[in-house]
Amino acid sequence: MNKILAVFVVGIFVSIASYNYKCEWSNVALADTTDINPNKSSELSLLMRKMYDHAAEARKAIASDKTVSYPKTFLNINTAVPTDDHTKNEYFETFADLYLQSLDTYEKSGAENRVKSYNNIVNACLACHSSHCPGPVPKIKKLIITDK
Ligand code: HEC
Repeated sequence: MNKILAVFVVGIFVSIASYNYKCEWSNVALADTTDINPNKSSELSLLMRKMYDHAAEARKAIASDKTVSYPKTFLNINTAVPTDDHTKNEYFETFADLYLQSLDTYEKSGAENRVKSYNNIVNACLACHSSHCPGPVPKIKKLIITDK
C-alpha cells in the first residue's frame, strides 16, 4: 500500500515536469477495441483500449461480487510499441509494474477488499497517465468508485 502511494506521489511530481510527452488519444477510437484504422493506432494504444475495457468490466462485476481476470497480453505493456518513441520515459516501467501488481492483488481480492483493490488498478492507470499521457485522465477518473 505504502509503495503504491509513494509511486502515486512521484507520479504527480513527474507530471509537472513532463507535460510535453505526446500520446495518441481520441474518444471516437475508444468506442471500439478492434482497430478502425490499423495503420494509425499503435500497439500500445490498442493494448490500452483493452485495459480500459477490462477496468470497465471489473467495475461492473463488483455489483455481482465477481472479479474479472485480465488477459495475459497485458503483460506486454512494457514491450508494446507506442505511437511516438518519446512517449515512454524512464518511469514507464515502474508505473507499468505497479499496474500489473495491482491487477494481481485485485484478482486475489475477496468481497471485503474488492472495491479498494479495483480502485488501486485505476489509480495505477492515473499515476502513469499523469506523467505520460494526460489526455485520457478525465475519462479514466470516471472509473473510480467513490460511493463505497
Ligand atoms: C505504464 C503507463 C501506463 C499505464 C499503467 C496505463 N496507461 Fe494508458 N496509456 C499510456 C501511454 C504511454 C499511452 C499512449 C499510447 C500511444 O500513444 O501509443 C496510453 C494511452 C491510453 C489510452 C488512449 C488509447 C487510444 O485510443 O489511443 C487510453 C484510453 C488509456 N491509455 C487508458 C488507460 C487505462 C484505463 C489504464 C488502466 C487500466 C491505463 N491506461 C494504464 C500509458 C499507461
